[in-house]
Amino acid sequence: MDIDEINTITVLGAGNMGHGIAEVAALAGYTVVLRDINEEFVQNGYDQIEWSLGKLAEKEQISEEKADETLDRITPVVPVKEAVAGADVVIEAVPEVMGIKKEVYAELEEHAPERTIFATNTSSLSITELSEVTDRPAQFCGMHFFNPPIRMPLVEVISGEHSSDETLDTIEALASEMDKTPVRVHKDSPGFIVNRILVPLMNEAAWIVEDGSATVAEVDSTTKFDMGLPMGSFELADQVGIDVGYHVLDYMHDVLGDAYRPCPLLESKVDAEELGKKTGSGFYDYE
Ligand code: CAA
Repeated sequence: MDIDEINTITVLGAGNMGHGIAEVAALAGYTVVLRDINEEFVQNGYDQIEWSLGKLAEKEQISEEKADETLDRITPVVPVKEAVAGADVVIEAVPEVMGIKKEVYAELEEHAPERTIFATNTSSLSITELSEVTDRPAQFCGMHFFNPPIRMPLVEVISGEHSSDETLDTIEALASEMDKTPVRVHKDSPGFIVNRILVPLMNEAAWIVEDGSATVAEVDSTTKFDMGLPMGSFELADQVGIDVGYHVLDYMHDVLGDAYRPCPLLESKVDAEELGKKTGSGFYDYE
């Protein structure tokens, strides 16, 4: 499919990433369907988009009119069949668990039109393995946004073993249409480029606290004031979701080996459901 043939984009998953991607797609002028597994989740995602567009308008980054038009282009939907019926591209942003994603793709394959491209926003999982659940592995690739999608300019466009050049070119062009800077990742390996670098940084920061060498605030101040990153490692973990970072690490550990063993401090936060900003507390409190 050529970029000019793309009109409707379905985003699966209305969580942190899903609703942000839906917002970015609608701002670029696409008709967007936002889907999640129940009314509450999908409405919550829609409400966050409304809030975000309001903020952008308040700061005069977009006009009130553009905010209203953008919101009007987004339809929240629950049934998968209805959500994908008119989709030219599906961008999947459901939880970072292989089993869940595979179930979603099996269902998608049943209902999506033949022309539809499947693009996964996975942070680390094998694009090839996911694509093999479908009958269209050539029309399948990674399209990995960063949190928060509205602010982060990068999109990794990742080739699975079966992805066609046409699919990769179209998704790369789509990222550009969304005013993002795509970078092509040629090999489907855990964590791709960014998370292969960033998630071990978060893990190592956690090990420093775990072994008592420094506190969370002390580690974060070095990340910000020496390395010049916009956020400390723990602030970033809270922003991304500690569970998301943990799942990425766990998968990298399984596939790439012991260097990526998740620090127990991260695991304890996941067990306590203190996942960062989205739950109101993580390494810092947000209430
Ligand atoms: N929409 C609109 N406005 C929003 C918003 C949204 N979604 N989210 C926050 N804001 C608003 C806030 O309410 C706040 O508004 P007020 O000023 O009115 O209070 C304002 O934006 C904060 O924005 P600033 O520009 O002042 O904040 P900042 O300069 O600190 O930038 C940031 C924020 C862009 C997140 C910056 O800190 C940053 O770049 N951090 C690093 C993020 C990063 O690395 N992300 C990638 C993580 S890795 C990943 O995502 C991949 C993965 O697979 C795990």
